[in-house]
Amino acid sequence: MKNIIIYFSKTGNTEKIAKALAQELKCKEYNLKNINPDEIDLSKVENVFLGSGIYGGDFDVSVKNYIKRLKGKQFNVGFFVTRGGFLKIYEKTIQKLNLEVKSMKNKISSNFFQCFGKSGIFHKKNPNPEDLNRAKEWARNLKYE
Ligand SMILES: Cc1cc2nc3c(=O)[nH]c(=O)nc-3n(C[C@H](O)[C@H](O)[C@H](O)COP(=O)(O)O)c2cc1C
Repeated sequence: MKNIIIYFSKTGNTEKIAKALAQELKCKEYNLKNINPDEIDLSKVENVFLGSGIYGGDFDVSVKNYIKRLKGKQFNVGFFVTRGGFLKIYEKTIQKLNLEVKSMKNKISSNFFQCFGKSGIFHKKNPNPEDLNRAKEWARNLKYE
């Protein structure tokens, strides 16, 4: 299994993106909300897609903790997020996580995927079919550096 999708989704938006990616890449997806990370087998994995909703401007701690498991194995890593707000604080978070991932000798995708997710009364239709298609296209065209 070359690709794997690991994410945290509290209210289901990021999960929709993860499932679209899994369909596109024909691989498994794991929501850290529901699974013990020890149960995820990375032995044959090359590309790790890591996703999270944005909560308080940040990734969920389960994803940030998961990153530490990628140490010393030389994966390619791409990040995806869904968010409710218009502020782009999450971009700084991704930059920081990219640096952390790279410092562990992994490669990172030069771009990340983001879209809105339903949040209270906002973005009620997101992720929408266009978001899902954009996510699939993103996954097909990743370049790692
Ligand atoms: C507790 C909580 C905190 C949130 N904080 C932010 C935030 O700081 N910035 C933002 O853009 N969206 C924020 N949102 C909106 C979520 O990022 C958005 O709804 C996202 O799609 C949730 O992903 P999920 O459905 O996979 O959990 C927050 C949502 C929740 C429930």
